[in-house]
Amino acid sequence: MNNRLFTFVGGNAGIWRVVQMKTLAGEHLPAPVMVDIVAGRDTGPASLDAKWVLHGITSNERYEMHGEKEQILAKQPALGRSEAVCAALIAIRKNASWWNLHQDERQRIFEEQSSHARIGLQYLPAIARRLHHCRDLGEPEPFDFLTWFEFAPSDESAFNKLVAELRASPEWQFVEREIDIRLVRE
Ligand code: HEM
Repeated sequence: MNNRLFTFVGGNAGIWRVVQMKTLAGEHLPAPVMVDIVAGRDTGPASLDAKWVLHGITSNERYEMHGEKEQILAKQPALGRSEAVCAALIAIRKNASWWNLHQDERQRIFEEQSSHARIGLQYLPAIARRLHHCRDLGEPEPFDFLTWFEFAPSDESAFNKLVAELRASPEWQFVEREIDIRLVRE
């Protein structure tokens, strides 16, 4: 499990400089200068003067997708492309009503009503992404998901359009906390 665990440190270290931070729902987080992404839980000196430290693990997919899964796998680029100097860390918590739904109801909202994967697919291969789950960690975390995206400056407006489309979907009615942090690679 540990090689799937990542720690995001909002402080003064790392290669990603914060250029904008917006709270769309719920409580704010203090704005750091830099965000460092560390593999595992041990952040070493990076977290000494950190404003916050968030953990998440990548994990198996929970939703059935109607043929989009293969297309996503075929089109999605890797993280760390040299031209992808822009990034977004969007931290999300969904409300109790979401988590009280049965998995098949969540599936219906995610895929049939919100077309999350179908919408997202249209923005590949411009946008690279990694989804981290926080609820599987055993210890309480302030968010349910840490979503990470990388793109070239010329794809920033496409990314903004993608985020706006998803935020307008029924799935987002269950989002009770959302913080959108934009970064550039130093
Ligand atoms: C989950 C695709 C963009 C937030 C997922 C899943 C897929 C997906 C396939 C399901 C993963 C699983 O089954 O666990 C995409 C694609 C995108 C994209 C192809 C294009 C770049 C975004 C953006 C956001 C976002 C921009 C945030 C604004 C989430 C969240 C989940 C998720 C929070 C977890 C939902 C849940 O389990 O309740 N995405 N996505 N995604 N995505 Fe996206």
